[in-house]
Amino acid sequence: MAVEDYTQPVLPGPGASDYERYLRTDELLALQKRPDEQVHRDELLFQTVHQASELWLKLAWTEAEEATRQIERGELDGAERLLRRAVLALQYVIAQLDMLEQMSPWEYQTIRKVLGHGSGFDSPGFRGIRRVAPQLGQAFMAMLRGRGLDIVELYRKGRENETLYQLAELLIAWDEHIALWRMRHYLVVARVIGDEVVGTQGTPVEFLGGLIKQRFYPELWRARNQLTQLANDE
Ligand code: HEM
Repeated sequence: MAVEDYTQPVLPGPGASDYERYLRTDELLALQKRPDEQVHRDELLFQTVHQASELWLKLAWTEAEEATRQIERGELDGAERLLRRAVLALQYVIAQLDMLEQMSPWEYQTIRKVLGHGSGFDSPGFRGIRRVAPQLGQAFMAMLRGRGLDIVELYRKGRENETLYQLAELLIAWDEHIALWRMRHYLVVARVIGDEVVGTQGTPVEFLGGLIKQRFYPELWRARNQLTQLANDE
């Protein structure tokens, strides 16, 4: 029997090793401006944070979308597993924003000049989040109705409905992390370009501050008020 030569790649495609072929690192690492194309060396930092965020956002909405399908099919344990991943992916996207504060606000103005009309409103990843979030909420509410429960009852009898309770908590965590990202992004923007200016697509930064209050699942947040009210009335 021939001895396998582990030093040689076996996968098809460009790249010197199977690592580079499978991960397509040649293409991946060519996606950032070369030093001779940069107007400022911090463009690598700026592009890295944005491109990495797009990847994590893609994973986040893909898992949330599949969780939605699983809830529709009644596969609640599977949905729980995927939603936990989706929330974790958002945590990474939030954490990466720290890196942008390593840029000098004055030097960033040089980079800003080469962004054209580029705006985060056109982020495919965040668009994906905005697209799947309402569908997830609808699937969960429909499933709850089908089981003859409303949210307040579910929370009052959380121990008897453990899986549903865990799912409700993951939905609110998902909503909370979207708001946390918006909050953190707003503060980064205020720190880098200011909170009384207009963005590259003409949006006042103040408008971003207003979006922090947006909730995808207001009924889950409202239920907390109702529980407090119920407890006060007892
Ligand atoms: C120095 C860093 C950043 C600055 C100065 C900045 C600035 C802005 C501004 C001014 C807006 C309002 C729209 C406009 O007119 O452009 C915006 C929106 C947005 N940005 Fe950023 N941004 C930064 C980093 C990021 C990063 C790393 C992401 C990651 C994907 C991102 C994603 C978004 C998204 C998704 C929106 C829409 C917000 C929403 O719908 O709530 N931004 N950004």
